[in-house]
Amino acid sequence: MTSQWFVRAICAATLLSTSVLLMPASGADAPSAEDLRVAQSLATMLQSARAVISAHQKEINDPALGDKGLSGPTVLDEAIRNYQERTGKDPRTIDQAAYEGRLLKAQMDSVVEVMDANQAMINAKGVAFKGFIPATFARLVNEAFARRVGAEATIKVTAPPELVRNRRARPDSWEVAAIRDYLQKADWPHAKIYSGVDAEGGVLRARIMVPEYYSTSCLSCHGDPKGELDMTGYPKEGAHEGDLGGVISIGLTPQ
Ligand code: HEC
Repeated sequence: MTSQWFVRAICAATLLSTSVLLMPASGADAPSAEDLRVAQSLATMLQSARAVISAHQKEINDPALGDKGLSGPTVLDEAIRNYQERTGKDPRTIDQAAYEGRLLKAQMDSVVEVMDANQAMINAKGVAFKGFIPATFARLVNEAFARRVGAEATIKVTAPPELVRNRRARPDSWEVAAIRDYLQKADWPHAKIYSGVDAEGGVLRARIMVPEYYSTSCLSCHGDPKGELDMTGYPKEGAHEGDLGGVISIGLTPQ
């Protein structure tokens, strides 16, 4: 066997395994309809909670205001209302002995935990920008969720590698390929979910990627001029309205 042949064989094997990993959402390696439904529910809860922080950003950033009235239970109530508006369902009534209900409960508990843990900072007088923004809140909620559910499920907000700000949000190799080969493609339908299954460590995991796009409100931090520091101290990415800004990446390993 010549070494050239060997290299070619390895390349072919690599290509093959990549294409198996990234099978489109149909066929034997696709997540079940139930996995997709559960993932959508978790993504909606995360978005519903994050929207509460967005809606109250002005108060949070107001240096004259002390108590912002954003306790854990208050924020959760508002998040539940948002979730109900979008799904027509009260997440508290979903059977908590079953997979979806258990994960939603962990997510809701995480929202309360993060708000409770940050009260002193949020309510501090005399400080305008406190760094408590939707993206940071969502990351903290996902980290609290991970501590609660362990390997059963993961929720992470990631982004195309060139856009990642916080190192903890970096996409893994499966996510990099899914973003590059599907979600960022010009002909990928707007807001269409990408999903697949991976078998890292011999454990099958349904993987669901929910794309999110920049709106005008994002561009004060992520827009032009590229490289200029935004109010949070990060260099702006020079992004435009409608660009893929991030992905809610969900992994499900029902047990
Ligand atoms: C006030 C400035 C600001 C605005 C406005 C803003 N972001 Fe961000 N964004 C940040 C910062 C800072 C981080 C890093 C947060 C952290 O530490 O996790 C971030 C992180 C993210 C991430 C996670 C990946 C990463 O880079 O760490 C995504 C996705 C994202 N933003 C998308 C958006 C979208 C979409 C909008 C509009 C709906 C938006 N952002 C609005 C400042 C902003």
